[in-house]
Parts: sequence; C-alpha cells; structure tokens
Amino acid sequence: MLKIAVLVSGGGTNLQALIDARESAQIKNGNINLVVASRADAYALTRAEKANIPTRVLLRKNFDSAEAYSEGLADLLQENEIDLVVLAGFMTVISDTFVKQFENRIINIHPSLIPAFCGKGFYGLKVHEEALARGVKLTGATAHFVNEICDGGPIILQKAVTVQENDTAETLQKRVMQEAEWEILPKAVSLFCEGRLSVSAGKVKITEKGEQACNH
Ligand code: GRF
Repeated sequence: MLKIAVLVSGGGTNLQALIDARESAQIKNGNINLVVASRADAYALTRAEKANIPTRVLLRKNFDSAEAYSEGLADLLQENEIDLVVLAGFMTVISDTFVKQFENRIINIHPSLIPAFCGKGFYGLKVHEEALARGVKLTGATAHFVNEICDGGPIILQKAVTVQENDTAETLQKRVMQEAEWEILPKAVSLFCEGRLSVSAGKVKITEKGEQACNH
C-alpha cells in the first residue's frame, strides 16, 4: 500500500472525494495516511478526523521563509514515509526544492482544462470568471503532476464540463467540482498507486492494467 498525504487549506471537498474513493476501494493500493492543512480552521481537518486520518496543521507564519516552510513540510512527509503528495486546494506556495524532492510524486487538481485559465493568479473563482468572460463553451478540470512551473506539470487526466448559458462563476465552479474534479482526482491517485503512470518528455503515459510502467 502506498502512503498518501493530502495537503489542504479549505473546505476539503476534493479530500472528501478521495476519502470516499478509498472507502469504496476505487483507490487501489493506496491509503490516506496524513492530512496537512495550512490553516487551523480548514473544514478539511474535520473531514479527516471523521475518517480517522491523522492531521497536522503547518502555519506559514511559524516559519521564517517560504523555503523554511517547505523544508518543514518535507520533513513531516518524510517522517511519515509518504509516497504520494496530493494538493487538494492547498493555498500555500511550495518551493522548487520541495518539488524536486518529490518529483513526479505530487498531484494537483486544477479547475480548468490546462493550458487554458491556469498559471499564476488563476485560482478559486477567478478561473471560472475568466472562462465566462472569454465565452468558452467547454471548461473542466485537470489532474497533473506538479513541477516548477505553476500549473505546468505533466497532465494525468482531464475532464470537460459544458458551460451553460446562465452560468455564474459560482455555479460553474460547483459543476466543475461535481462533474470533473471529484471524479478525476481519485482516478489519478489510484492510477499512481497502481503504478500505471509514467512520465517521459513532460508527458504522462497511462499503462493498461498488468502492463509494466512505474517510474516511482
Ligand atoms: C478546488 O476548486 C480545486 O480545484 C482548487 O481549490 C479548490 C479546493 O476545494 N485547487 P476543496 O477544498 O477541495 O473543496
């Protein structure tokens, strides 16, 4: 069983999707061993406690620099022998050193079809406001590995969601979560845990069950 840590800052609906997927055995060969929050009031912590998952709170203000914060985070994950790090609405910036330490072992969920509406400043409602302002007919979500480029890492899975005529940023955000994020994040995590993801030249290859892959 691979050990998964989920990093959160907010409501934790993506964490909940992972917990549910684990409980229904949709996530194979992986357990959620730790939830780390960057805020003490994150509701995600309550979700973790209800599921009997150990939690830790790491506040940025208790560290001198962003680099020191990432070092503290890496130490915590290594102490817990974590194999896979999932960013599920984690709002604190992690350092390049951290990203290198966990190369191709950090998965993020982004609420658009990358490379549209992503990169610096594109988080939360802003992503959906920009999609509506541009008038796209399709948006969606992307599960990807994290590298040094913001939202620029290898893409694992994407799912499209249709924009409706009367959508607001809020309704669109909700549908993208329900129809795409909560589906593809657990799938991507399971594929990783099953050893079915490999990365080559910045692209992810998903192997069939039984086929040999695995670069982690
Ligand atoms: C999601 O929209 C996710 O795509 C983004 O942050 C939000 C987190 O929501 N990265 P939740 O805390 O999982 O409910």
